[in-house]
Amino acid sequence: MEVLGIDVGGSGIKGSVVNLENGKFTAKRIRYRTPKPSTPQAVSKVIARITREFSWKKPIGVGFPAVVKKNVIYSAANVDRSWIDLNAGELLTEATGCPVAMVNDADAAALAELNYSGIKHKSGTILFLTVGTGIGSGLIRDGKLIPNTELGHLMLEEWGEAEVYASDAARKREGLRWKDWALRFGLYLRHLEDLFQPDRFIIGGGASKKGDRFVPYLNIRTRILMASLKNRAGIIGAALVAKQTFHR
Ligand code: BGC
Repeated sequence: MEVLGIDVGGSGIKGSVVNLENGKFTAKRIRYRTPKPSTPQAVSKVIARITREFSWKKPIGVGFPAVVKKNVIYSAANVDRSWIDLNAGELLTEATGCPVAMVNDADAAALAELNYSGIKHKSGTILFLTVGTGIGSGLIRDGKLIPNTELGHLMLEEWGEAEVYASDAARKREGLRWKDWALRFGLYLRHLEDLFQPDRFIIGGGASKKGDRFVPYLNIRTRILMASLKNRAGIIGAALVAKQTFHR
């Protein structure tokens, strides 16, 4: 079965058609810049455009960088604040003419890794982190996702909010060398180790392409892997959630 997956990020909105038997794209990936300001109207126009470009008429899954419960958005760290309390599913259904299922972007990516990356050991605690404009988290326990954990907003003593201090955007903004950024990211991971005792970290988002540049400097005790689906994970996971919502 094929579903259109869309991943709304702080800098880009990406979409493709996903074959949910194997998690592979059956069409090229389309990407547009996230409009500024990223208001519901502006973002829904981009999503409607992507839908038209694929001539899509069936369910759509949308990964969104915020707390999402039953299609309603409850936070807005990296998108316009007017999303808060909005039923984004209804807005996007109106804009695209298709049924829409919403999911947090990091939860979507974690689900995709869990289901399509060939992970063998799904038991225990896996903490998936997307490191890009913000830091998103997907917490998995014995193969089941615990949604909306928002661990990028954890406050680090002395340093403040983790995503402001240790995201890929912070590395770029402050012109940090990978090694210097790794010292920050490692401190954050050690804090997560103390709180959750994970069996594995999986890193997705922009930083996951450069694992070899920072992993050697992390100084953590937990096994760490880079997401094998790379920046496709958010799209694939969003499509999977739409399938689970509309085709039970
Ligand atoms: C948001 C999360 C999101 C993460 C990555 C954070 O600022 O609060 O919901 O998963 O960014 O996009």
